Amino acid sequence: MFDIRLTDVPDETATRVVPVGPELDAEMSALAAATEGAGTAGRITVLPRPLRTPSRVLLAGVGDGGEAAWRAAGAAAIRETADDEALEIHLPSGVAAASVRGLAEGLWLGGYRYRDAPRPPRAREVRIYGAAHAESLAEARATARAAWLARDLTNTPSSLKSPEWLAGQIVAEAATRPGVTVTVRAGEELARFGGLLAVGGGSVSPPRFVEMSWQPPGATTHVVLVGKGITFDTGGISIKPRDAMKLMKKDMGGAAAVVAATLGAADLNLPVRVTALTPLAENAVSGSAFRPGDVITHYDGSTSENTNSDAEGRIVLADALGYAADVLHPDLVINLATLTGANAVALGKRTAALFSPDDELAAALTAAGAAAGELMWRLPLSDDYLDNMRSDVADRVSAPAGPGSVMAALFLRDFFGDMRWAHLDMSAPSWAEAHDLELTKGATGWGARTLLRYLTSLGGAASS
Ligand code: BES
Ligand code: MN
Ligand code: ZN
Repeated sequence: MFDIRLTDVPDETATRVVPVGPELDAEMSALAAATEGAGTAGRITVLPRPLRTPSRVLLAGVGDGGEAAWRAAGAAAIRETADDEALEIHLPSGVAAASVRGLAEGLWLGGYRYRDAPRPPRAREVRIYGAAHAESLAEARATARAAWLARDLTNTPSSLKSPEWLAGQIVAEAATRPGVTVTVRAGEELARFGGLLAVGGGSVSPPRFVEMSWQPPGATTHVVLVGKGITFDTGGISIKPRDAMKLMKKDMGGAAAVVAATLGAADLNLPVRVTALTPLAENAVSGSAFRPGDVITHYDGSTSENTNSDAEGRIVLADALGYAADVLHPDLVINLATLTGANAVALGKRTAALFSPDDELAAALTAAGAAAGELMWRLPLSDDYLDNMRSDVADRVSAPAGPGSVMAALFLRDFFGDMRWAHLDMSAPSWAEAHDLELTKGATGWGARTLLRYLTSLGGAASS
């Protein structure tokens, strides 16, 4: 990730970016007003200055001046300029801390490039002049770093991204953060993880279960984050049609987000204990793949009849949730998963589905998402379909008929036990088909930003 620095010495050679909007610099805003739409959030108006230095000035619209609008302005500014073009954003005096945070996040998120891209990310020179909000910049940096990591992991092709490789990446990231520890379970150590073994059994790359922990001294609240880590989802024996399979390298986006947010909590030295749990497996088609009709015994001892091997996410998550309830006894658990195609059917391409029996937790997550720029919408845990869960040979079936995202959430509900919980189905917003404000084409890293905001909002206070 390139760096952004605060400066109080203007550099006359760098391309100057001047935010324009209703409450900003009167002269510039008057200039902008002369150009149709120049103050609109995320709109860039280029003013050429031939034969002068700098040779151009960019007016960056900040709309209503809210954090999201500043984020849009930052993303637009970085996208409108070349890798080797030094940028200096000149802020009006007295600009709010949240504006600086939004601006910096937008610059970093919009400037994201996949680490193994043919045109690799460069060390760009970006400076912010005229504001002393170092703390906002630090928050933006940790947030963007988390999103970059989640995007990099999710964009990685599955030929490279085996469960073992992904576990190795998590270990390597943790090693650079003092206070973060990791355990990777494999082979015999997964004996109780019947769902993970079943789903991962069809692949030549065997499954892993990763537990990463940030435990600062004195922390009272313990949050467990669980993320679905399917490194490729063919659908297994219940194989996917070709179009539906195309993007399934992204099926570990939940795992990437929870790992990135936990590392972000360490980067910000947040006074809250966080454990990330990621069941990692490839859902492959082969002679050793689990079959429809198979009965799986989960970590908690309960059983599920597999009725569709493409409903593999809930099966591996059940083990992770059972483990959290049995071993960790957290204050609350948040599950993130690219769980159902129905998420996009219900809510469109940018909004995750939120499920929780806990109004307070649901409201807090929604607020964190809104502040971070990631949308979610709460769906009901309807009891109307419980009959469909019945199995003649197990405690439940894995893929009952009914509304897809709701049925998956109802399946997971069994495994949360007494824990306070929320589940986010982020299948839809985990991917962007094209650049869009601070989102770059490809993996979005959805959830990393929201979770980090949420963890920050907890502070050190004990939860109710
Ligand atoms: N990984 C998919 C869900 C998905 C679909 C994520 C599209 C991102 C984009 C998941 O494992 C899946 O296949 N779900 C099935 C469940 C069904 C078999 C009950 C689905 O949604 O069709
Ligand atoms: Mn599937
Ligand atoms: Zn899947």
